[in-house]
Amino acid sequence: MCGIIGYLGPGDGISLSLRGLERLEYRGYDSAGLAAWQKGKIVCQKTKGQVKILRQKILSLPESKSHLVIAHNRWATHGEPSKINAHPQSDCSRKIFLVHNGVIENYQSLKKWLKERGHSFFSQTDTEVIAHLIEENYQGNLLEAVQKTLPLLSGAYGLAVISESEPERLVVAKKGSPLVIGVCQKGEYIVASDPVAIIEHTRKIIYLDDEEIGVLSPQGVRITNSSNSLVKKEAQSVEWDLAKIEKEGFPHFMLKEIFKQPETIKNALRGRVNKKQGKVKLGGLKDWLSFIANCPRAVFLACGTSWHAGLIGKYYFENLVGLPANAEYASEFRYSQQPIDPQVAYFVISQSGETADTLASLRKIKKHGGHVFGLINVVGSTIAREADAGVYIHAGPEIGVASTKAFTSQVTLLSILALSLVQEKKLWPLSEMKKSLIALEQIPQQVEEVLKNAKRIKSLAKKYYQFQNALYLGREYNFPVALEGALKLKEISYIHAEGYPAAEIKHGPIALIDQNMPTFVVATNPDDLVYQKVITNIEEIKARGGNILAVANSGDKVIENLANQVILVPQTLDFLSPIINIIPWQLWSYYVAVQRGCDVDKPRNLAKSVTVE
Ligand code: G6P
Repeated sequence: MCGIIGYLGPGDGISLSLRGLERLEYRGYDSAGLAAWQKGKIVCQKTKGQVKILRQKILSLPESKSHLVIAHNRWATHGEPSKINAHPQSDCSRKIFLVHNGVIENYQSLKKWLKERGHSFFSQTDTEVIAHLIEENYQGNLLEAVQKTLPLLSGAYGLAVISESEPERLVVAKKGSPLVIGVCQKGEYIVASDPVAIIEHTRKIIYLDDEEIGVLSPQGVRITNSSNSLVKKEAQSVEWDLAKIEKEGFPHFMLKEIFKQPETIKNALRGRVNKKQGKVKLGGLKDWLSFIANCPRAVFLACGTSWHAGLIGKYYFENLVGLPANAEYASEFRYSQQPIDPQVAYFVISQSGETADTLASLRKIKKHGGHVFGLINVVGSTIAREADAGVYIHAGPEIGVASTKAFTSQVTLLSILALSLVQEKKLWPLSEMKKSLIALEQIPQQVEEVLKNAKRIKSLAKKYYQFQNALYLGREYNFPVALEGALKLKEISYIHAEGYPAAEIKHGPIALIDQNMPTFVVATNPDDLVYQKVITNIEEIKARGGNILAVANSGDKVIENLANQVILVPQTLDFLSPIINIIPWQLWSYYVAVQRGCDVDKPRNLAKSVTVE
């Protein structure tokens, strides 16, 4: 949440920063701003709304270029989205400017104290106190002023600060919110919340750790820790190719990411599955496999879509491995009284690797002696670095705010993890393992087949897009698919939708059913124990005049006769079916949102990387 970019170097910092802000818009887009050193002064432009509006305003600056720039996309926490509350924020003298990602929890007491000392405040933000504290501590050295200020702050921050009196310095600091430094050449650096804003200029990235402060100057990068000791950090090479952060001809990132799933699922499988030998391998967890296989219980911790993947992980562990498991919201877990058990295997699942609640849960577990394993997408992210061990899902950058390809890759990896445990515990004969691996390897091709239905799903969306409420139903492995389908719809088209385990409708939701409230049902795998039960639920809804849109397997005549509309998908093993069954709902949400005129990649009030609680 909130995107930071900063530049120091001989090039055109303003256009580079604007481009960077556009790449970071998935982190927030309610307001934007930029401060640049020009002709001995810092000039600042801010606006409510998206970067494209800021771009227009920048044309009015006295010069078009600057060697020292900080800029920001905001996702409001304290104070409404407005020009005044947009970052950069500054001190009373308007000589110190900074951009911030995070929340300063003790800002009210600091503000009171600063007001008593004569500081005037302009915004309602928590961030502004940092600028005034730096002003209070400033005695001609920006680094020292920042060093004195940071211990006074409680909460989280990624910060980039500049001072009018020090045109050759950009000071950055991090605690809880991500911040990376791109090294273009000696004396030219880009600071950002995410490497996606940097990689078109350099692949060499330095990852700041919590409580580190970096000073960028023409002489180089100098990083110190909270005890002011020098920290030696090597730049790491980021492999992402540029096409992955472009739309590549698709109208939206979300649609592109939906269509990339055959490829991203293949990437999740690559090198991990050997169907000939009937073996799976997860390098990142190999030293811990025996610990996990023999633990008494597993806990999956995550937020949002990643939590839905975790819920599927729970079914995998219980049904395939016989290992009791829970999926818990990281936001609840971090404050729960649940004792941390060093015997338990804790898994954190996160696309960004930066979600504040998931990170806090990880830290809580580690603090109390527990072991945490990560399933992460963003390489080098904070959660990836702090977990005891883990595996990457290799889905590539996900820019669309509504997660799609990360979900299918997470579930794919969870299935491989469960199969590794089956292998470790020698639970299945080789033939059964081979059967699962053959099915797993067919998934990308089957997803490709579902994507061929896009046109039909689009035409259904055109027919149905005006409904206001929706119910999504599924059972067992496909209950999380119902939750995820409902989440996708609410996120981007603002239609109220609820996901339920199908049999639960009798305990409330069935009261809502009428012709205006469609029900979306997953009813695949006719040989499955729960299939027949779902059919009964469909009958119950039909009997009350409800409309049914079902995802079913090709050739299923029962559903074709029952449902108002059917989207056919290829059949796979029941436990792998969520990876295929979610695809129609992703496409459906996308086309409904487009039909309703919603901004799919920038849904209102949302941001992708939730780095605040
Ligand atoms: C936000 C995003 C979701 C995501 C969730 C968890 O709500 O909009 O798409 O599922 O955060 O994010 P994570 O990066 O931890 O998977």
